[in-house]
Amino acid sequence: MTTMNGQVAWVTGAGSGIGEATALEFARLGATVVLTGRRKGPLQAVARAIGEAGGTAWIQAGDLARAATSRRIVGAIDKRYGRLDVLVNNAGVNVLERAWAKLAPAGVDQVVGANLSAAFYCVIAALPVMRRQGGGLLVHTASWAGRFVSPLSGPAYTASKHAVVAMSHSLNMEEFVNGIRSTVVCPGEVATAILDKRPVPVSAADRARMLQSEDLARTIAHVATAPAHVCINEIVISPTWNRGYAHQIGAKPKTKGRRRKT
Ligand SMILES: NC(=O)c1ccc[n+]([C@@H]2O[C@H](COP(=O)([O-])OP(=O)(O)OC[C@H]3O[C@@H](n4cnc5c(N)ncnc54)[C@H](OP(=O)(O)O)[C@@H]3O)[C@@H](O)[C@H]2O)c1
Repeated sequence: MTTMNGQVAWVTGAGSGIGEATALEFARLGATVVLTGRRKGPLQAVARAIGEAGGTAWIQAGDLARAATSRRIVGAIDKRYGRLDVLVNNAGVNVLERAWAKLAPAGVDQVVGANLSAAFYCVIAALPVMRRQGGGLLVHTASWAGRFVSPLSGPAYTASKHAVVAMSHSLNMEEFVNGIRSTVVCPGEVATAILDKRPVPVSAADRARMLQSEDLARTIAHVATAPAHVCINEIVISPTWNRGYAHQIGAKPKTKGRRRKT
């Protein structure tokens, strides 16, 4: 079996959703996982689940929208483990007020700070350790909204995620000489807590048809276990029932009713 034994992986946004599932999957594969998010409670719950399954996790909480946080955390990882093999740059937010008619500077700052500046800060902090050890993997959770513009996600989120896609490709252009690879993952809708911030509530039936966090965890684990000579530059992944397409062609999900007796 392909494993991550001996590897140190830092997962941001690890207290919930895609980050939580990825941290659990990495730990299952044998990696030591460093968990970051602003709230300690969810991180403790994930660390407990990893410990109970026989894995190793270390909590480093903090607000990644501040550059000092990622500097501090990478310093702590380097001191404790002396290496950093994988960074999953996954923390992100959106705001309720996302149409231009409602968008305010504070919302733009929040979204760009958590989705884009934080991603840059984490990479800038991680690169020196990866260069020193002669390799490393950067995975960024961008979005379908990082590839395709639609009104659904709002301009700040869409712009920040497009920038994350560009950031990842720019890393591959420069850092391959240091054995460093960068993968940007662009998921369509995933049934996580971030959907609770949608202006139009998402039904349980819609959530059930979406990608699940574990689907993304498996995808990211596939990237993380690829041989060092393989660079997976970009992954675009969506639920089979893609609500954007369904909306465009006016398709409705088929109900699995019992056949009527004649
Ligand atoms: N769900 C989707 O449909 C979807 C689709 C495409 C892309 N994505 C992207 O996937 C990533 C993960 O989101 P998710 O869907 O798993 O939603 P989620 O459960 O809300 O996860 C987001 C995580 O990011 C953390 N976070 C937010 N701001 C932070 C900050 N400033 N500093 C540190 N941590 C921060 C949150 O923890 P704290 O609140 O404790 O800080 C939370 O655990 C995000 O980048 C999101 O944009 C999601």
